[in-house]
Amino acid sequence: MPKAIVQQAAGGPEVLTYQDVPMPRPGPGEVLVRHTAIGVNFVDIYRRRDTTAKYPLIPGAEGVGVVEAAGPGVRLVKTGDRVGYATRTGGAYAEYRALPEGALIRLPPDIADDAAATILLKGFTAEYLLHRTHAVRAGETILVHAAAGGMGLTLCRWARAIGARVLGTVSTPEKAAAATAAGCESPILYTREDFAARAKELTGGRCVDVVYDGIGRATFLQSLDALAALGHLISYGQASGHPDPFTLTQLAAKSLTVSRPTLFDYTADRARYDDMAVRVFDAVRRGWVQPTVQRRIALSDAAEAHRALEARETIGATVLIP
Ligand SMILES: NC(=O)c1ccc[n+]([C@@H]2O[C@H](COP(=O)([O-])OP(=O)(O)OC[C@H]3O[C@@H](n4cnc5c(N)ncnc54)[C@H](OP(=O)(O)O)[C@@H]3O)[C@@H](O)[C@H]2O)c1
Repeated sequence: MPKAIVQQAAGGPEVLTYQDVPMPRPGPGEVLVRHTAIGVNFVDIYRRRDTTAKYPLIPGAEGVGVVEAAGPGVRLVKTGDRVGYATRTGGAYAEYRALPEGALIRLPPDIADDAAATILLKGFTAEYLLHRTHAVRAGETILVHAAAGGMGLTLCRWARAIGARVLGTVSTPEKAAAATAAGCESPILYTREDFAARAKELTGGRCVDVVYDGIGRATFLQSLDALAALGHLISYGQASGHPDPFTLTQLAAKSLTVSRPTLFDYTADRARYDDMAVRVFDAVRRGWVQPTVQRRIALSDAAEAHRALEARETIGATVLIP
């Protein structure tokens, strides 16, 4: 029997158990994918803690592999194709997974499997955050929180390539060095200093045009302070918890905009999903996105991957290898 990580209840990393599961069977319009690399993302942690989910479940939102079999009516892919995906539902922490062909992106031959497993969720998210939620222009100044994280490094490098000035926040000097290498200017140690005041100082009092905030509660309100007039706060995650409530009056003070986007609303439209894939793979070829795997961990050790990500020990992307 194939193996998977199965979660029986909400909880800490210890609820992730490696066990035998039945071989999935592709239904109409579905394919069977044998995973070769599986992306680890912070959303997997939110879901692992979710007491309202229906258990047991197999976690994981991002996978890469080979099509092993196709169910009736499949048209877009065939057996032997290399594919990848990011899905709203879990199921990726497994050796095999059956899923609708419409969820899949065919992988170009020049992108390795483990590298692809770092960009199908994070790279596609960076695409819409930098080009759609806010179309960043050369000369704009942006602030990226957790600039050395999986999303952070991708956002910094790509925004720099667009020509933006990139400020960022990190928790350690080691992370500051990683963010700097990705194009982040003067990373701010936000665990030690007031990042909004520092961003104001670094911009000569003007503040920044856009804040990309995946931290949530610990940073959200201060992120508003870091914005220039007409600025845009893009709250796209909550690693520290959901942001506290705010009032429209707080936005009126500087004519600010707040967005709370999610990848899967952008990829729900197939034509847009394909457009995003073209731009992401092009960005990889140009070096604007570097699909670098910082940590490879056996699928059986998924709990360790979660522990490290939650403990803020990781830099860049982690991939599970079945
Ligand atoms: N909306 C979307 O479509 C979408 C898609 C993908 C990802 N996301 C979001 O993007 C964010 C980053 O995801 P990722 O997978 O790339 O993770 P990551 O950035 O690699 O890891 C999270 C980082 O957040 C920082 N952090 C600050 N407070 C934290 C806390 N209390 N607990 C844990 N980490 C904390 C840490 O960096 P420091 O040590 O430097 O503080 C940590 O390394 C998440 O919020 C995720 O939900 C959203």
